[in-house]
Amino acid sequence: MNRRVVFHRVFVLSLVLFAVAAAQAGDPQRGRQIYIDRCAGCHGLTGSPTMAAVPAFSRGEGVMKPDHELLAFIKRGKGVMPSYDGLLTEMEIRDTLAYIRTLF
Ligand code: HEC
Repeated sequence: MNRRVVFHRVFVLSLVLFAVAAAQAGDPQRGRQIYIDRCAGCHGLTGSPTMAAVPAFSRGEGVMKPDHELLAFIKRGKGVMPSYDGLLTEMEIRDTLAYIRTLF
């Protein structure tokens, strides 16, 4: 294989990977409405919680984990935090996470 061919293959592969990553990334615009409807009651409109024991997204609390961990957490729920499995699709949760990441 000459260098041009190698370069071309690497280039095409990068495009494919980029497309896959873009398809999986959440859309903060869609996530915003979900957040307002479902999450802001406890986590606050701007990510400042409305009650004790809720992490403050506005200070970066609870959001320093990778998306796949937070996705699993949101599906599962914990204590006061409800489980959203079956209530939100995986894509809706990704959108909401993308929005939460804009709050701090
Ligand atoms: C009834 C209140 C309530 C609602 C509604 C709620 N949460 Fe939570 N959330 C909590 C509490 C309490 C915790 C802390 C749980 C713990 O660690 O014990 C939490 C923690 C979290 C965390 C941090 C997880 C971690 O690993 O540190 C994320 C992210 C989160 N919530 C996202 C959401 C999203 C997204 C929604 C809406 C789809 C939502 N929450 C709705 C109460 C709520």
